Amino acid sequence: MSTEDNKTSRRSFLQATGGLAAVTLLPRFAHPTVHNSADETIRVALVGCGGRGGGAAINALATKAQGPIKLVAMADAFADRLAGCHQNLTKAVPDQIDVPSDRQFLGFDAYKKAMDCLQPGDVVILTTPPAFRWVHFGYAIAKKLHVFMEKPVTVDGPTSKRMLALGEQASAAGLKVGVGLMSRHSVGMIELHDRIQNGELGEILLMRGYRMHGPAGYSESTPKPAEISHLEYQIRRFHSYLWASGGCYNDFYIHHIDHLCWMKNAWPVSAQGLGGRHYRQNAEGLPFVDQNFDTYAVEYTFADGTKMFFDGRCVTGAAGMYSSYVHGTKGMGIAAQSGDCGGPSATYKGQVIDPSNLLWESTDASNPYQNEWDKLIAAIRQGKPHDELKRGVEASLVSSMGRMAAHTGQEITFDAMLNCEHEFAPGLDSLTFESPAPLLPGPDGRYPTPKPGANPKREF
Ligand SMILES: NC(=O)c1ccc[n+]([C@@H]2O[C@H](COP(=O)([O-])OP(=O)(O)OC[C@H]3O[C@@H](n4cnc5c(N)ncnc54)[C@H](O)[C@@H]3O)[C@@H](O)[C@H]2O)c1
Repeated sequence: MSTEDNKTSRRSFLQATGGLAAVTLLPRFAHPTVHNSADETIRVALVGCGGRGGGAAINALATKAQGPIKLVAMADAFADRLAGCHQNLTKAVPDQIDVPSDRQFLGFDAYKKAMDCLQPGDVVILTTPPAFRWVHFGYAIAKKLHVFMEKPVTVDGPTSKRMLALGEQASAAGLKVGVGLMSRHSVGMIELHDRIQNGELGEILLMRGYRMHGPAGYSESTPKPAEISHLEYQIRRFHSYLWASGGCYNDFYIHHIDHLCWMKNAWPVSAQGLGGRHYRQNAEGLPFVDQNFDTYAVEYTFADGTKMFFDGRCVTGAAGMYSSYVHGTKGMGIAAQSGDCGGPSATYKGQVIDPSNLLWESTDASNPYQNEWDKLIAAIRQGKPHDELKRGVEASLVSSMGRMAAHTGQEITFDAMLNCEHEFAPGLDSLTFESPAPLLPGPDGRYPTPKPGANPKREF
């Protein structure tokens, strides 16, 4: 599509969503707005200025061959995170960073101020811990912004229902939504998916995913220092706390769960699983106060009775394994050779991984994190459909289902997970630094942890 066509499509969107009218009718915001809304420049705001937020911003700005794009506003709960990210981005892509101090916003309402700097048809990146996704997505829809949001997008049943409803609103408004399940944009995996659909492996009977390594990210936490609140501690170390991230099960394991289900073109109907915590204190004898198990083994069942096994482990010294496999009646495939979606993907005749059995191996070396952005921005510029929200919620829900099965020691169905009424952190849309943390310590000073068998309806 020519640049002229791109301009026309973007203008059509702006007209359809009231964006062009908004140029003249916009009220004066309390915060500085960015000049102009109807040209071909896409303005981007970043909400959640951590590791992935910075990476996603770079991927967004790297689409500049499609048309001008720049970062104009940043929001984070904490000053140190925003400052570090701003510095890194300014160093990496100085010509596309236009975020003076009056468009840098801090605190739990910073997301509104950053999005207020945009015009309808611009893009917001949501890369805070997942707990805040529904809050920020709702505001983005109200502002008629296209959205890129990182996975997981929900952590429990109630927030999944809320996000599905918001997704319908976004879709009805013509907004494009990208979700950071980048396996879906790995060219090798797309080819593998095609080959499986074309029958190369026969009927799929079994799939296996493994993410096993030492403790990673914030999967483990010792008691908080006195000078920091429970709330800040839990947000900064979000992998440790189920309300903030869904725990390491959701945050780390969702990629394999998502891409294996994609290979099968189905979500599992139920899960049962095991898990436990073998190491309850660190080498210095300090107790771990996070809510994660350090091992998980979950068996998912599909409607046709076939199975998917997922094993996760965060234990130092145990064997590492980080890959995923698909087994069919005629052969087997490797989806992720290493990591979340690292290639090459491959197919083999029979069930033995041996060079003599190799049917096909992917050769594409493009970056799925960049591919997902190239497609999102192309859809925005060309006015084409792009809606990854529903499958992002479903992948998050299937992750929660496996986690809940292991945490409760019960079989959990897809429907039971969706209808589970335990909302881990109600009221996040009105959170302030003075609010109590969603998770508070009990009389023993420890946060509540999952105890399989204790309560079939709640994980903690
Ligand atoms: N697709 C991938 O491969 C991939 C890789 C890494 C992270 N992620 C996802 O990206 C998200 C962020 O992860 P990360 O590793 O960048 O974490 P991070 O801690 O580095 O960044 C999160 C940032 O959000 C900020 N924040 C927290 N609550 C906020 C709020 N309410 N409002 C504004 N800012 C807030 C934090 O201060 C921090 O700067 C997670 O959902 C994670 O699962 C995805």
